[in-house]
Amino acid sequence: MKQIDRLAALGLFDSRVPRYTSYPTAPVFSPDVGLSSQRRQLAALDPKVPVSVYIHIPFCERLCWFCACRTQGTQSLSPVESYIGTLEAELALLADTLPKGLRMGRLHWGGGTPTILPPALIHRLARAVKDVFPQTPDWEFSVEIDPTLVDRDKIAALAAEGMNRASIGIQDFDPLVQEAIGRQQPYEATLACVEDLRAAGITSLNADLVYGLPHQTPARMADTLDKVLSLKPDRIALFGYAHVPWVAKRQKLIDETVLPDDQARFALAGQSATAFAEAGFQAIGIDHFALPDDGLAKAARSGHLRRNFQGYTEDICPALIGIGASSISRFPGGYVQNAAATPAYIKHIEDGHLAGARGHEMTEEDQMRARAIEMIMCDFTLDRSALNLQFGALTAGLDADLEQVAARFGDLVRLTDTKLEITKAGRPMTRIIASLFDAHMPADAKFSRAS
Ligand SMILES: C[S@@+](CC[C@H](N)C(=O)[O-])C[C@H]1O[C@@H](n2cnc3c(N)ncnc32)[C@H](O)[C@@H]1O
Ligand code: SF4
Repeated sequence: MKQIDRLAALGLFDSRVPRYTSYPTAPVFSPDVGLSSQRRQLAALDPKVPVSVYIHIPFCERLCWFCACRTQGTQSLSPVESYIGTLEAELALLADTLPKGLRMGRLHWGGGTPTILPPALIHRLARAVKDVFPQTPDWEFSVEIDPTLVDRDKIAALAAEGMNRASIGIQDFDPLVQEAIGRQQPYEATLACVEDLRAAGITSLNADLVYGLPHQTPARMADTLDKVLSLKPDRIALFGYAHVPWVAKRQKLIDETVLPDDQARFALAGQSATAFAEAGFQAIGIDHFALPDDGLAKAARSGHLRRNFQGYTEDICPALIGIGASSISRFPGGYVQNAAATPAYIKHIEDGHLAGARGHEMTEEDQMRARAIEMIMCDFTLDRSALNLQFGALTAGLDADLEQVAARFGDLVRLTDTKLEITKAGRPMTRIIASLFDAHMPADAKFSRAS
């Protein structure tokens, strides 16, 4: 049987499974774990251990049809400015709750499009964050940037506030593909943005690409890959297009008849991975690539790669504080998500309290499975010995799952007394294999495809 037929028979194209940017996954979060849990877990943070901070900006000037991110379109800055006021109020509430002396090791602005903020609002927000979270000396600041909604003044403002990493959205450079996903983005504008970011001192630049978009063919993909590589990013994220119109209603504008089929998607992903390897990039986890000297590649080689809501990271801060609508905080003891809809989030803050609305408190078993799934997603290996050292007898709970994986996936995995390894040929099945260690897999949640 051909390799692809074998993977198909094992469910590669039919499975709908989480991307495991957290475990348990967000659909499992309960409204019973909200504000009081959030307050308790914030107050219990160890002030000696730096935290990561994430700020969500749920606005875009354009709404790309393919996009599944939680964001809303606006042509006016007035809702954005008023939202910054709400973020300031949330930060003040956090200051009242957090232990004194807590510092920030990382800051990430995501969205949506953080570069919708003009320089004055960039400075206002950065000041409000830094007032509550003093920075550690090795502090890192990363920002998601839409190259068509940024200019030198915004980049200068972000750099003055300490931005040293940036992630730009590209998706695809082909005009036909861009038209079909409602996202016009000339190569020249993207190049100018990259040059401005480099001139501003950005040391690590990521580019987001998507395969499986309408009208993508090997020839068009080859052209996009050449153009992306000519921009000399340090990292590339290559996401499979998640077509989930029941969640992201604007995807109904995408013509499904011109989407590449299963085999074509698989070939586009393989073609991209080959091009990146030939250009000297190291493959990281299921969907990232990084130059060998980039921090992400170093973390992967030394076993310190981690997974969080942004994907792969070398960030080892044990707590991440999510600020803004729909943001998720990760504490040593579990997750709390702010109210997801922007008006609901604003109402919580205007009522004078934090916006935690749903979450999950982790049992020791959850902690153990979360680490097992993270190992699979980051290292393609479940290191039983390392888990035993951390969780002891509790890991016996994985025995049945390990046997099930070995029986189902045969020589695509290697199971010994100390570890489960996914072979190179088995790697496309990684999310499916991870899902077999998920004790909370919801029966009714509709995840995106695994391939
Ligand atoms: C918040 S957006 C990017 C930042 C910025 N707004 C921009 O457009 O340049 C984060 C990334 O998620 C990815 N993404 C969004 N919707 C997706 C989908 N339906 N399937 C796969 N990836 C998607 C895209 O690669 C996108 O660049
Ligand atoms: S891809 Fe970026 S700009 Fe487009 S809708 Fe999504 S978040 Fe907004």
